[in-house]
Amino acid sequence: MYLFHIRTYGCQMNERDSEALSCLLEAYGHQSVTEEESADVLIFNTCSVRDQAERKVLGKIGIMKRLKAQKPALKIGIIGCMAQRLGESLFEKLPHVDFVVGTGQMNQVPEFFTRIAAGETHLSALSLEVEEAELSGHQGQSLTSYISVMRGCDQFCTYCIVPHTRGREKSRPIPDIVKEVREQVDGGSREVLLLGQNITAYGVAEARKEGIYTPEFSAFADLLQALQEIPGLLRIRFTSPHVRYMNQKFIETVCRLPKVCKAFHIPLQSGSNRMLAAMNRGYTAEEYLQCIEGIRSLAPQAVFSTDIIVGFPGETPEEFEQTRQVMHQVQYDMAYIFRYSQREGTRAAKTLKDDVPENEKMERNQILLSELSEGVEKRNKAYLGKTVEVLLEGKSKRNEERWTGRTDLNKVCVFPPVEGFHPGQLCQVKIGRTTANSLFGDIIQA
Ligand code: 5AD
Ligand code: SF4
Repeated sequence: MYLFHIRTYGCQMNERDSEALSCLLEAYGHQSVTEEESADVLIFNTCSVRDQAERKVLGKIGIMKRLKAQKPALKIGIIGCMAQRLGESLFEKLPHVDFVVGTGQMNQVPEFFTRIAAGETHLSALSLEVEEAELSGHQGQSLTSYISVMRGCDQFCTYCIVPHTRGREKSRPIPDIVKEVREQVDGGSREVLLLGQNITAYGVAEARKEGIYTPEFSAFADLLQALQEIPGLLRIRFTSPHVRYMNQKFIETVCRLPKVCKAFHIPLQSGSNRMLAAMNRGYTAEEYLQCIEGIRSLAPQAVFSTDIIVGFPGETPEEFEQTRQVMHQVQYDMAYIFRYSQREGTRAAKTLKDDVPENEKMERNQILLSELSEGVEKRNKAYLGKTVEVLLEGKSKRNEERWTGRTDLNKVCVFPPVEGFHPGQLCQVKIGRTTANSLFGDIIQA
């Protein structure tokens, strides 16, 4: 039996994978510990999306060499995207690492635990070809369950490493997902966050193979409809959709189904059509805006968040200005803004020069961030005096004497505890104060 600790970097899919791996290892009799210091095995679940993410974890594992010299029984494993991308070459850079497991081979980890216990080292499992059944996480451990509905990405945006580290798109059948969600809800979950790198392409690869794909196809809409029927499930969220597959069926479904939260994360990346084409995004800024308008016309309360890349190769000040304009038009509630980071092996790295200076990227990043928070702060003021429905999550991390929860539009609310209420319950909160990040108020008792 090993005590293990998993340190997770990167996206929500990685968080989900760590959760599922933890559950699997516990089923084999190992035990998860919260303190790194008490672990016999340290597992790093890594991210490759930006260079900085990789450098951070490489630095951290580098330092572990000294720790391992003091504590020779300590074992170290690297899993996830960076493990997939760099593979066994990691053993050259970091000889104190015991195993490397890629994104499609997580279920090998229990066997590796047995083998390292027997003294083996430098083990690797890196194939993306093997069919791996989806591992499930702990049942109902949290109010919000992360559910992986598809893996991989076939989009090949020119800047992105994900298609190289997570392989081709593969969707789980609807009944499998419904079963997992039902189990999570039976265990106490009230909300699901459906995960897929290109989630609106759910079922598309399979439909293409069968020759039944048409522009009206949206298996994702069918999945949402099936989840809507699950009793006890209150809210459905998903990330990340791609405008290319957001057809009328999808738009009509997300707007119609009451459990689908009307807060949509829709990556824009750039507001310039020349940049979007160079990124191979497969849509124009006008098409993107049409999708937003399509949703707004059916669900006027809808709010949006996005991903933006500034400083993509060749991005001129005018093209950056176009991104700014689209952001201004949409009035996002939240945005992740990234500085372009060249990733070896991607088409952009092979064919385009990373020519926007770092300080210029930084400045563009700063401009978008400050405009964004100004806008959100202003719009949040509209909540003053209003009553919102909040899914109660529990104690606020910042202030243990306060409770916190979110509205269906993903606004964080903070309020004083009231006896008789418990996490997982919906409550009405009257808002008395707002900032750019949160709404503050009091529970109204019926
Ligand atoms: N450089 C900067 N940002 C990137 N992203 C993906 N690849 C890169 C890169 N090479 C961003 C995109 C994507 C998000 C998950 O990360 O905006 O939507
Ligand atoms: Fe990367 Fe584009 Fe796929 Fe998203 S859709 S994972 S940005 S290649």
